[in-house]
Amino acid sequence: MTDTENKFSSGTPIIDKKISRREFVDWIIKGGLFATLAGMILPALAYIWPVMGGGPSKQNEEVGSEDEFPLWGSKKVIVGGSALLVIRTPTGYRAFSAICTHLGCLVDWDKQQREIVCPCHAGVFDQEGRNVSGPPPRPLPTYEVKVADGKVFVKV
Ligand code: FES
Repeated sequence: MTDTENKFSSGTPIIDKKISRREFVDWIIKGGLFATLAGMILPALAYIWPVMGGGPSKQNEEVGSEDEFPLWGSKKVIVGGSALLVIRTPTGYRAFSAICTHLGCLVDWDKQQREIVCPCHAGVFDQEGRNVSGPPPRPLPTYEVKVADGKVFVKV
């Protein structure tokens, strides 16, 4: 008996093909390779896709009421998974990433000196988030702040 055998049922030829052990193992290996490649390529595409689509949409997130922000006061908040530092100055609110641009420590607002300081390596940023002394190589990323109905919102 051969692997391929023709049978006739009501006049129609039917091909009955048996799969050999070698072919079966080949299919299992090919399936495993395909699954492995898909497992590597799909996460890479998922990572790239938001960039190709213009990035995630921005929205205003409430970070507190105006009562929580006295003049020259500050508050650290987590918004959209990001740590932010929001400060209130006489000219309005400002929001920055609370992650130091040197090695990623959390920065603090120094109300007395009116500057943003990093406790790890004495990095200093001014009220605009610009790196002014110490090792931080770049300014802090900034975020747009709006106030509506006594609530403070940050666009992230
Ligand atoms: S991590 Fe902020 S100054 Fe080094």
